[in-house]
Amino acid sequence: MVGEGIIFSRLPEALLPWYHEHKRELPWRQDREPYHIWLSEIMLQQTRVEAVKGYYARFLDAIPDIRSLSEADDELLHKLWEGLGYYSRVRNLKKAAIAIQTQHCGVFPREYKDVLSLPGIGEYTAGAICSIAFDQPTPAVDGNVLRVVSRLTDDETPVDTPSYKAAVARSLASVYPQEAGSFTQALMELGATVCGPNRKPECENCPCKAFCLACRQ
Ligand code: ADE
Repeated sequence: MVGEGIIFSRLPEALLPWYHEHKRELPWRQDREPYHIWLSEIMLQQTRVEAVKGYYARFLDAIPDIRSLSEADDELLHKLWEGLGYYSRVRNLKKAAIAIQTQHCGVFPREYKDVLSLPGIGEYTAGAICSIAFDQPTPAVDGNVLRVVSRLTDDETPVDTPSYKAAVARSLASVYPQEAGSFTQALMELGATVCGPNRKPECENCPCKAFCLACRQ
């Protein structure tokens, strides 16, 4: 990854203007309330954006804040999650809400390590929440981001290894701009649209085409 710093360093200037112009208007992009960002990231873990939209709105109507989540009836939670699957996600949401009430005075924690220690929150989700809600330079590296980076650097290292993922996270963390939340979402957006999975990337529409090594090949 060493010689690839120059590619990473160009990402913010390329991605931020592109994101502001082309981002999809999604319900969880209307504000930066940590509870909203957290809920959306948990719902999006195994589920497509289109499917999540309705669940997200109904959940917030019924359970508008962390305190009501911590006190919510298990049957109601199950009903609100019905069809999304992976029910451990909603059980962990409630457990985490209780932990926030008891250990953080009901306020969603800002420190990455505190966020990571909540039930149901792994490195990807903690990185997403801390960057999107609090503009911290904490990358959210999933399969989409790994694919984008391996194309940008034309790196044939298998992307699904912990050490590759950690190296990508370090490289990204070192170039994070002030607008961290937009940068995280721009990387996600590029990986979901222009540089999406299982198809040929749309290099002609890509904000990174000037410096992408896969595009050059
Ligand atoms: N997938 C995971 N997180 C997402 C987000 N915040 N917006 C769109 N797709 C996502």
